[in-house]
Amino acid sequence: MPRLDANHPVAAVLTGLLDRFRVEREIPPLAPDERLDGKLALVTGGASGLGFATSVDLARRGARVLLADRREPERARDRAVALGVPPDRIEPMQVDLSDLDDVDRLAADLARQGARIDRLVLNAAIVPTVARTTPQGLDEMFVVNYLSSFALVTRLLENGALPRDRRPGDVPRVVVVSSEAHRWSQGVPPVRLDAPRDGSPRRVLAWYGTYKLMLTTFAWELARRTQVDGSPRVSVLALCPGAMRTGIARELPAPLRVPLDGLMRLFFQDPFVADEPVLHLACSRALEGRTAVYLHRMAVKQVDPRAADEGAARALWERSEAVLAAWQEPVSPPAGSPSREAPSSAGRSAVRG
Ligand SMILES: NC(=O)c1ccc[n+]([C@@H]2O[C@H](COP(=O)([O-])OP(=O)(O)OC[C@H]3O[C@@H](n4cnc5c(N)ncnc54)[C@H](OP(=O)(O)O)[C@@H]3O)[C@@H](O)[C@H]2O)c1
Repeated sequence: MPRLDANHPVAAVLTGLLDRFRVEREIPPLAPDERLDGKLALVTGGASGLGFATSVDLARRGARVLLADRREPERARDRAVALGVPPDRIEPMQVDLSDLDDVDRLAADLARQGARIDRLVLNAAIVPTVARTTPQGLDEMFVVNYLSSFALVTRLLENGALPRDRRPGDVPRVVVVSSEAHRWSQGVPPVRLDAPRDGSPRRVLAWYGTYKLMLTTFAWELARRTQVDGSPRVSVLALCPGAMRTGIARELPAPLRVPLDGLMRLFFQDPFVADEPVLHLACSRALEGRTAVYLHRMAVKQVDPRAADEGAARALWERSEAVLAAWQEPVSPPAGSPSREAPSSAGRSAVRG
């Protein structure tokens, strides 16, 4: 009998449905006094779906939330206020994560304003069904789902808006919204990280898994690079929220999207329920002093061994820096060169391995 490819949309939906029943809760709900009063949070892709629910629920736990999104973050703030969130707890921030100049601008603005981020939730992602090119000539899905997170975190660490000088117990947390799809991934592209992507709807979930694997590998390397004598200066945590009813499949062709929307409405979780692991990673006292913890819904799991591989993670970090450096200081590759990745700009990085 032919096996269904794990990256086929039907297999992905069935897996999401089954996980609702087979992943059992291991962690108790947060206590009411596990709060973030006086803390500053930044949520990417905060205007809809999981990002919106997370922004609202972080604000309800006392945080001041910078809700960053590309379209009308002000309207998202109004919707949050309509849900009872005090207006001064949500600050809309316009950012297009597909534009690396805009990511740089956001990081620079935050540093100029003296922001010190306590919780950074890397949530934004897209599932595009055609390959689109960013202002820097890169693939949009590669940039939104992976490279913008790498760029944002490294910039914020370099400029101090993500501080690394806090006492243990008060270190900032980076919460990475990954997906179990990172396990089904075919792996990091061996030749070019920024290779032109086959944009067909049939392949989009395979790329989605690839970028989630890259994001999780980056997160575990960040966790290693931000430890001093075994003690985290930044706590790096990741999760898969499980299948949710959100707009993430909005670009799929109607024959796939319409039945998927029906299934989502019937069986997938509301983002205000599915955000529980995000809230847990952001607020739980039990995670003080911990780093590199991964939750699948409310159960602790190991990440895929490829994401925990130190050699692969170092290489990915250097290759990511090289893609950023190639965009910042354009180099003409020799004729016929298969790669735009420039030699590593390791000397630039303030985040050492
Ligand atoms: N839905 C699921 O079943 C599921 C399962 C596992 C993991 N996840 C993960 O959960 C996270 C949230 O997804 P979701 O389901 O909540 O999807 P969603 O409703 O589509 O939310 C994604 C948000 O990111 C924003 N965004 C997209 N491109 C952007 C850009 N260039 N700049 C700034 N913001 C941008 C979107 O804005 P626009 O509305 O303008 O596009 C949207 O507000 C993602 O990381 C996803 O991979 C989802």
